[in-house]
Amino acid sequence: MRVFQSPAELKNELRSLDGSIGFVPTMGALHNGHISLIKKAKEQNDIVVVSIFVNPTQFLKGEDLEKYPRRQDADKRVCELAGVDYLFYPDANDIYEKDEVSLCAPNVRGYILEGSSRPGHFSGVLTVVMKLLNIVRPANAYFGKKDAQQLNLITLMAKQMFMDVNIVPVDTMRDAFGLALSSRNDYLSAQEREEALKIPASLKKATSMIMSGICESDRIIEQMRAILSPLEISYVAVVDREFKPLQRVEPGNTIILVEAVSGTTRLLDNIWL
Ligand code: PAJ
Repeated sequence: MRVFQSPAELKNELRSLDGSIGFVPTMGALHNGHISLIKKAKEQNDIVVVSIFVNPTQFLKGEDLEKYPRRQDADKRVCELAGVDYLFYPDANDIYEKDEVSLCAPNVRGYILEGSSRPGHFSGVLTVVMKLLNIVRPANAYFGKKDAQQLNLITLMAKQMFMDVNIVPVDTMRDAFGLALSSRNDYLSAQEREEALKIPASLKKATSMIMSGICESDRIIEQMRAILSPLEISYVAVVDREFKPLQRVEPGNTIILVEAVSGTTRLLDNIWL
């Protein structure tokens, strides 16, 4: 595996290669969720590139930019073991200048749900993903369904900006208790982790209601909120695959999303139906 910090050097190297490139952008503190993206990229491409960059523009003031887990050596080993060919490890100065052209998330889909709790967050995500895709120019780029709204907005960006990249969604990886893996799970105490299990439990309840024929969003949301209590709930929503709210679950076109706070850690999860 070769490690690059400079965007220009990585670009030169990648442009000299033959074969399809699969790309997995991350912010590091790699876990099995990230590894499942890397595995899929390896299956579907000749060359796999992973980036690790804790992107400052997607953190709002007062968020966890400074304390976000950084584990350079461990992450390098994980990438090597997973068979990554190129690891891109830039600094903020390698990616951003002072006075920049900016990219804005769409007014509606970028500012509902996660975008409403974190206004401006998705503009930062789209900006960095655009930059990374332009540096790597992959045939395929891999994103987790766990961050469903992020995945939706990146897919929209690729389409609306006529980019030559295929955005590939990857299923959510969970731990043995059903908690969706996340680098932010590191922040949880044992008790907070236990409480966080209410999140997958609420989604399980939604699934069982739907299987028994209860498809009204209001009823599902009410039951999910009851299970999540006393966690602080940022949102529970039933939307279609374009992120428009649904009155009733439409099989094959529905995502049920939840964000709740355990201790001080925001946790996201969802199911695709
Ligand atoms: P990060 O949180 O490190 O996640 C990197 C990728 O891994 C994202 O596509 C995310 O959806 C996926 N992922 C995270 N947890 C997962 C899980 N449990 N199962 C499957 N996939 C999972 O998301 C970001 O970084 C950043 O916003 C980024 C896209 C890199 C832009 O900075």
